[in-house]
Amino acid sequence: MDPKIVLVTGATSGLGYATAKRFCEAGHICYVIGRNPEKTRKSCGELGENAREVVLDLTHTAEIPATIRRIVEEAGRIDVLVNNAGINMKKPLLDVTDAEFERILQTNLHSVFTISREVGKVMREQGQGNIVNISSMAAQYGLPYVVAYSASKTAIEGMTRAMAVELAPMGIRVNCVAPGFIKTPMTAKALDSDPPRKDRVFARTPMGEMGVPEDIADAVYFLASEKARFITGVVLPVDGGNSIGF
Ligand code: NAI
Repeated sequence: MDPKIVLVTGATSGLGYATAKRFCEAGHICYVIGRNPEKTRKSCGELGENAREVVLDLTHTAEIPATIRRIVEEAGRIDVLVNNAGINMKKPLLDVTDAEFERILQTNLHSVFTISREVGKVMREQGQGNIVNISSMAAQYGLPYVVAYSASKTAIEGMTRAMAVELAPMGIRVNCVAPGFIKTPMTAKALDSDPPRKDRVFARTPMGEMGVPEDIADAVYFLASEKARFITGVVLPVDGGNSIGF
């Protein structure tokens, strides 16, 4: 097996870290994209010799093209892009400022577009590639207090389909994983401070538990693999049934 060259954004914690670990352990080369130099170095140290450090704040979209060029110069190609980085903000809709709304969209949506376009150009040259986006249950049903996050994640699912149809003739597949409630620092922050919300999550999750980051990593790994060669444009919920729960 030739090692794949994989880029994972926001790979210093949570789902992104688990995803990077999945690829590294399978013998692939993983570029760990993180904002914070110390955290990125620490994560790469833990991930071992197959991990490569890339310090980049994705909201600085003007820096993305040069970063992608640098990676291609070093690695020669890019086989997989996992658009995982994301931020959330829990606040009543009527109190959200324009700047706050824009900040969420900038991280969760605009930067995903820019990096996908740049990596897409590389994959077009190669005639093959895989992009996996990460959405959320906030794109499946109405979740209160996360208006900007819901807007960004719903847009990610639309963009997944638009990208999939346009890039399929170039040999590029684009899919999306919609995580349910998974144990990470992000959900701890959102749920631990709000016990009624946490109760509701469990009440409507038929499998009765939260997922672990490895559940998402495995789904991303599958979608990026040859086993999924005829799958493009799908949104795969990995949620213990939360999205279809009563
Ligand atoms: P997390 O907060 O542990 O990880 C997010 C990562 O993105 C962090 O490493 C952070 O540094 C990075 N990041 C944020 N802004 C960035 C920027 N401007 N530039 C570079 N990196 C940046 O969160 P978690 O839970 O691992 O979430 C990962 C993805 O999964 C997010 O897109 C999130 O919306 C999504 N998700 C998570 C769920 C969960 O239950 N944990 C549920 C549904 C979706």
